[in-house]
Amino acid sequence: RIAYVNGQYVLHRDAAVHIEDRGYQFSDGIYEVTAIYKGRPVDNDGHWDRLERSLRELRIDMPMTRGGLDLVAREVVRRNRVRNGIIYIQITRGVSPRNHPFPKDTPPSIVMTARHGLGSKPEVAAKGVSLISHPDIRWGRRDIKTVSLLPNVLAKQAAYEQHAYEAILVGPDGMVSECSSSNAWIVTKDGALVTRPLSNDILGGITRKRLIDLADAEGLRVEERSFSLDEAKAAREVFVSSTSSFAMPVVRIDDSVIGNGHPGSIVTNLRARYFDFLE
Ligand code: PDD
Repeated sequence: RIAYVNGQYVLHRDAAVHIEDRGYQFSDGIYEVTAIYKGRPVDNDGHWDRLERSLRELRIDMPMTRGGLDLVAREVVRRNRVRNGIIYIQITRGVSPRNHPFPKDTPPSIVMTARHGLGSKPEVAAKGVSLISHPDIRWGRRDIKTVSLLPNVLAKQAAYEQHAYEAILVGPDGMVSECSSSNAWIVTKDGALVTRPLSNDILGGITRKRLIDLADAEGLRVEERSFSLDEAKAAREVFVSSTSSFAMPVVRIDDSVIGNGHPGSIVTNLRARYFDFLE
């Protein structure tokens, strides 16, 4: 395996950044995860737009142009012979002796890797997955895709320990924000899709945006509004979305069975439309 690190392609096992990288010391950096389907990046513009926005919000310089990012991404995919998989891109504020304020004249660090394997096994989506509810203890800028993921890691670990696929994160007001690494959706009794509106409270998922467009094209009603954990448990259908999960049907939250305990027809159809889009 080959990784890209600050201008060089190196063996993955030898790839390293310095111990005083601010990503390592302060989580002072951002990342993106992009899908590669049949050798091509999925929703590339959306991912680069979000990457630029995350950097801008944290006042980290773009380490290269978009054209440069495209070139490196293509090269990492080629050198690792990835057909269906993911690219991981991480950019931090760079290497400097540990001190909280931004260092001066320090170039950002950039790392890119690619790996095989995209999406869950078809059997998983066919059966549907379960979620556990978990308090959302994250900071106030969840719209920035920072590498500061400790609350997400703790929530996901809690889910894994209970054999659940994901943790659905709930605020002190009982409202769902999203999941530990995906966006959350419900389908109401009258067939409307509901997902939380964009704000500082959630990450603006690229898959979320794509699914809204696909749902619109299908003539489905989409309501961007908050919903509570109770509403989700009583919903006709529930699903989660992300770059690697696409639209994943949910059949259980905690002890509550969703619908009849099988993936619903609306999410099943939407997932099929997403596969059409990938082609
Ligand atoms: N996670 N919400 C959170 C908190 C996420 O971490 C992600 C993505 C999403 C979905 O965004 P998108 O559709 O753009 O992938 C929502 C990535 C895949 C990860 O951390 O691995």
